[in-house]
Amino acid sequence: MSEKSNRDIDWNPSSWRTRPAAHQPVYADPEHLTVAVSRIAGLPPIVFPGEVEKLKAEIAEAGQGKRFILHGGDCVERFMDCNPETIANKLKILLQMSVVLSHAARRPVVRLGRIAGQFFKPRSSEVELIGGREVPSYRGDTVNGIEPAEREPDPDRLVDGYFHATATLNYIRSMIDGGFADLHQPYNWNLDSIERTAKWEEYRSIVENILDAIHFMESFGGVNSESLGRIDFYTSHEGLHLEFESALTHEAGSGHYNLGAHLLWIGERTRDLDGAHVEYFRGIRNPIAVKISNNANPGDIANLCRTLNPHNEPGRLTFITRLGVSSVEDTLPGYIEAAAGTGIHAAWMCDPMHGNTVSTGSGRKTRKFGDVLEELVLTHRVHTRVESVLAGVHFELTGEDVTECIGGAVNLDETDLELNYQTYCDPRLNYAQSMEMAFLISGLLRD
Ligand code: PEP
Ligand code: CO
Repeated sequence: MSEKSNRDIDWNPSSWRTRPAAHQPVYADPEHLTVAVSRIAGLPPIVFPGEVEKLKAEIAEAGQGKRFILHGGDCVERFMDCNPETIANKLKILLQMSVVLSHAARRPVVRLGRIAGQFFKPRSSEVELIGGREVPSYRGDTVNGIEPAEREPDPDRLVDGYFHATATLNYIRSMIDGGFADLHQPYNWNLDSIERTAKWEEYRSIVENILDAIHFMESFGGVNSESLGRIDFYTSHEGLHLEFESALTHEAGSGHYNLGAHLLWIGERTRDLDGAHVEYFRGIRNPIAVKISNNANPGDIANLCRTLNPHNEPGRLTFITRLGVSSVEDTLPGYIEAAAGTGIHAAWMCDPMHGNTVSTGSGRKTRKFGDVLEELVLTHRVHTRVESVLAGVHFELTGEDVTECIGGAVNLDETDLELNYQTYCDPRLNYAQSMEMAFLISGLLRD
């Protein structure tokens, strides 16, 4: 049996419709939805299958410890952030962190943005109270608006989502081709706020070492500034809205690819083995990831391996654990063992954000820098102990100077959250906190 017939025998881009689909918006006018998704299906793909396969091969190498993945971006992108400054700042922070990490890990870093399509959110409740009035929950700009009067799901927003994703990625590609990657060079970093803190002495030598290494490579001629400036950048989002994802699914070569992003992930709330999301993801050729909380059973992990990577393809499947700092030691070893027991390739990344969200007295969602770092340290330690590989890290972060997470060298506290709290969903590390996190992880990787 050929690989195609074997893989596709009972799968097609619509076979998910036979399964229960959680977290899908309900549209008042189904005809309107059909028109919108048909329009998207007829528009050109956003990415190309060759790039998707290249990422899969790089993730396979990361799973063997030959590369390291930096996966990050907003919890939810907003259409209003589709502007040159904000996109440039997001690219800049990811590039700058990647230089720090690759220097420490002595491995190339795979840069994967939560960007150019991260417009959908699962919500724990269908409704929320605003000013004493119950309104449908905000599900991301591709579904409804943040203003209470805009909460009815509107299919035209899906088409807007497609165009915002293409505009974002187009600008990223032009910046990279046009030499923007030069901004990943340390002399273009903007570390003033960290330099003013007591922690700077600890980080100064990291920055100086990176500068020395780059100067050495340049003068030696082994790596010239042109090749330092050439970079790869990949996109990803949570594959949540299955009508949207189906519309971006194209047949290419011997299979189907979701060409709306290079990598898609299944969220913690939609990873039910019998659900529509797992069914849809099973058949696409992209590299895929699954978020795993401490609610998972080791058996879930084994079943996901068998269902989502039946051909045992390296790079195809990644588990992103988001266990919470107090659960890592108890749960992670069992998950790793369950995956290994199937004999199926799976890479492991750590998302130290989603298991460490807390609410302040005034009701703000936040995360403590120390908890985020500690989950990473513990996760790295467990992988090392059981001879597994931590292939990468996953952050909610931004290149802007927001005040959403507490702590770090810049020492934001609860009252600072009111200064510049922007996110429509989860709290992100800001520029200084993200750079500092890269410095701290680099110590971990070097050891
Ligand atoms: C997210 O990544 O924003 C998210 C909702 O994560 P999780 O599915 O892990 O809760
Ligand atoms: Co989030």
